[in-house]
Amino acid sequence: MPFLKLTPLQSRFAATFAATLFLFAFYYIISTNSGSFAYALDEVDQLIMQQTGADAGVGVSNEHPVGAEWNNEIEDEIENENKEGYDGYTLKRAVTAPTALGNNQYKLLNIELGETQYWVFPKDSVLGAHTSATNELPANITDTNSTDTALSADEVNRYELRKRSSTVYISLTTCLKPSLNTSNADAAQDTQLPPLTIYISTSENNTNPGPGQDSSLQTEYTTEQGYMSATIDNADSAIYIGVSAPNTTLFTGIYNYEVAASIDAYFHSIDNDTNLYFVDSDVNAALLITNNLTQSSPDSQNYQEWMNITPPYTIFANNINNTGIAGLERSYCALSQLAQIRQGNNAVNRSMTSRGMGNKPKEQFYITYLNSSSTYYGILGLGRNSTASENGVVGGGGKIFTAMNFTTKTDNNCALLYNLDFCSEVAYAVPSNPDISNAALAQLYDSYAQSYYQSFDYSLSLIQCNTSSVNSYSLAVGCSDCASAYKQWLCAVSIPRCYDWSSNYSYLMPRDAGQPFLNGTRLPADDPLVLSPVTNQSRNPMIDSKINPGPYKEILPCYDLCSELVRTCPSALSFKCPTGKWLNDSYGHRAANGDITCSYLGAAYYLNDAFRLLSPGIDLALIISGLWMVFWVGF
Ligand SMILES: *[C@@H]1O[C@H](CO)[C@@H](O)[C@H](O)[C@H]1NC(C)=O
Ligand SMILES: *[C@@H]1O[C@H](CO)[C@@H](O)[C@H](O)[C@H]1NC(C)=O
Ligand SMILES: *[C@@H]1O[C@H](CO)[C@@H](O)[C@H](O)[C@H]1NC(C)=O
Ligand SMILES: *[C@@H]1O[C@H](CO)[C@@H](O)[C@H](O)[C@H]1NC(C)=O
Ligand SMILES: *[C@@H]1O[C@H](CO)[C@@H](O)[C@H](O)[C@H]1NC(C)=O
Ligand SMILES: *[C@@H]1O[C@H](CO)[C@@H](O)[C@H](O)[C@H]1NC(C)=O
Ligand SMILES: *[C@@H]1O[C@H](CO)[C@@H](O)[C@H](O)[C@H]1NC(C)=O
Ligand SMILES: *[C@@H]1O[C@H](CO)[C@@H](O)[C@H](O)[C@H]1NC(C)=O
Ligand SMILES: *[C@@H]1O[C@H](CO)[C@@H](O)[C@H](O)[C@H]1NC(C)=O
Ligand SMILES: *[C@@H]1O[C@H](CO)[C@@H](O)[C@H](O)[C@H]1NC(C)=O
Ligand SMILES: *[C@@H]1O[C@H](CO)[C@@H](O)[C@H](O)[C@H]1NC(C)=O
Ligand SMILES: *[C@@H]1O[C@H](CO)[C@@H](O)[C@H](O)[C@H]1NC(C)=O
Repeated sequence: MPFLKLTPLQSRFAATFAATLFLFAFYYIISTNSGSFAYALDEVDQLIMQQTGADAGVGVSNEHPVGAEWNNEIEDEIENENKEGYDGYTLKRAVTAPTALGNNQYKLLNIELGETQYWVFPKDSVLGAHTSATNELPANITDTNSTDTALSADEVNRYELRKRSSTVYISLTTCLKPSLNTSNADAAQDTQLPPLTIYISTSENNTNPGPGQDSSLQTEYTTEQGYMSATIDNADSAIYIGVSAPNTTLFTGIYNYEVAASIDAYFHSIDNDTNLYFVDSDVNAALLITNNLTQSSPDSQNYQEWMNITPPYTIFANNINNTGIAGLERSYCALSQLAQIRQGNNAVNRSMTSRGMGNKPKEQFYITYLNSSSTYYGILGLGRNSTASENGVVGGGGKIFTAMNFTTKTDNNCALLYNLDFCSEVAYAVPSNPDISNAALAQLYDSYAQSYYQSFDYSLSLIQCNTSSVNSYSLAVGCSDCASAYKQWLCAVSIPRCYDWSSNYSYLMPRDAGQPFLNGTRLPADDPLVLSPVTNQSRNPMIDSKINPGPYKEILPCYDLCSELVRTCPSALSFKCPTGKWLNDSYGHRAANGDITCSYLGAAYYLNDAFRLLSPGIDLALIISGLWMVFWVGF
């Protein structure tokens, strides 16, 4: 094995490995003061165990980690120098033989504060054969009409060009960081982690680039948020890399990093987009989605490939007040062992979905074990699914996207539902009661909406829908448009979107003020919210009779759901949207900035595409006929 020089992690981690090895199972540490925090054997842990052998954790001491062949080498050289070359005045610098890196083969190593380590990407590799192994995903089709999954001519050209050039891509990610030196009065909780510094030399005269070397013979880089990358164009000889940990007394312990060089592409990469959208949360769970992964149409092979794929993306989440990942937000290896919420600790349920605007394939993440009223960073990762199999794969170190943030709810009477059978586009928090399981709650709401849809379907069938367009009610829209608009509207109004009672956003409508809170107290009987029929009950009476959530606030359905219904359905159905005060009690309006100020199906926060305002000129007369919907349109 070419991994002999690797040192294991600090002994606290080694102890973890030993325990996991013996238990041969996942385990959790639930910390009560910092909330639920799951910790488990994960990808990186496994990786390190493989590379250090099954005896990791045995014979590890703090001073001399096992596998310190590296240190021995340095000591040997210093010894030799003392015997032969030391002239008593000028201390000739020992030249350390750098460790070789293979194409797309990362190496993992511990580094002490103040230490510098040397690597070389040899000339053979610089001028060597390209690697073809990649973790390919189905194509990202941007044109809805295209069903072709082959590489475009442009992509082929770029690929050919890349093969002929000798550009070398070097990347490094910091996997572990030293901890704060608590005996140093200057070290505060918010002290920034000093970065690792990387020196790169292409000169045979500087095979040990590092601090204090001739700066004309090396280029200096630093890690940012745990990530560093550099390209060397037109390389035709060996490339020397020095990795240097800062001298600081503010921190204590070691860093650990992954370094890789490639002539194909960056082994580790980052992306300036977040590629991640927040859908909704409750007190301990949140739902997030990736951007559309393709725009191809549902009947294309590409669409099916995406929908049937094993979910390729992963997510990391960390409370913004927890410094565990601070300074390492762009490092895959760090996040996959330090983030509070990550794939390895069973807090993430991933799946593919086509829910949402446009109904294009995307990946969704249902994450649990969150604390209430807390803001979390959400970070998307891609392309690093298993252990050492990633070595030798182009881009095998994975990609990390930019962090976004989301917040959990405060009150325990809103529950996040998604993946309902009938109202399949519903994915948000609904009025609930902690005594009812999410599965039972989903069943209650979904079957309720479905039963109303059946009455509507019957009414619609009485209208001439299947005759020729000349006889049917409109040339522009058909009964299927009406049915779809009705379903959208029905699901949105019968399954209200719930928000914290304690929140005071102007677009929230108080509901159920007449019911007792979950803790048994009630609002005073003369409270205006209790006196008004709009605010003392729910718009859907089933909620008050079967769920009893107590007072909650509703994000009203978007008005355009109602106007779209009126626009697309035959006038014989007599749908009308309310006006005036009735309108504002029943419907909300969309915000231009992507905030969710009204409820529509498939909503996600801060989608950049601003919504299209629906055409005006719709009959807004009050009150409705159509018996099956009387009670919702009002309030
Ligand atoms: C840290 O200090 C030591 C001793 O002064 C020096 O040899 C070493 O090069 C320094 N390391 C860095 C990264 O500056
Ligand atoms: C897709 O095809 C339709 C019909 O052929 C055409 O009207 C439309 O403009 C095309 N869309 C794009 C994005 O090319
Ligand atoms: C290395 O140094 C020698 C002597 O200073 C010089 O002649 C040679 O050109 C240098 N080589 C490189 C690659 O810079
Ligand atoms: C921690 O800080 C103290 C006080 O400044 C210093 O004496 C000690 O060397 C520091 N420890 C490390 C590991 O830097
Ligand atoms: C990401 O942003 C940084 C700074 O804003 C910029 O230097 C870098 O080129 C960007 N990377 C990409 C891939 O756009
Ligand atoms: C797909 O490609 C488009 C255009 O290049 C890009 O804007 C979008 O971010 C890509 N989507 C994904 C999920 O990579
Ligand atoms: C988290 O940090 C924010 C801002 O610093 C603060 O307002 C909030 O109270 C903190 N939350 C917790 C749970 O510590
Ligand atoms: C993930 O979610 C799906 C759909 O809700 C559910 O069927 C599955 O059991 C969940 N898996 C885990 C591991 O929780
Ligand atoms: C996905 O594409 C649709 C159009 O097909 C667009 O409306 C939507 O904003 C895109 N993004 C997401 C995350 O849904
Ligand atoms: C990792 O990806 C490869 C290729 O995409 C796949 O064959 C393998 O099953 C994946 N491993 C895991 C653990 O998902
Ligand atoms: C959360 O994200 C929003 C929008 O990107 C940003 O304005 C806000 O500053 C972020 N909050 C924190 C605490 O990072
Ligand atoms: C009961 O809960 C409500 C809403 O959360 C709160 O305003 C009220 O103070 C609580 N009453 C008691 C006695 O805890």
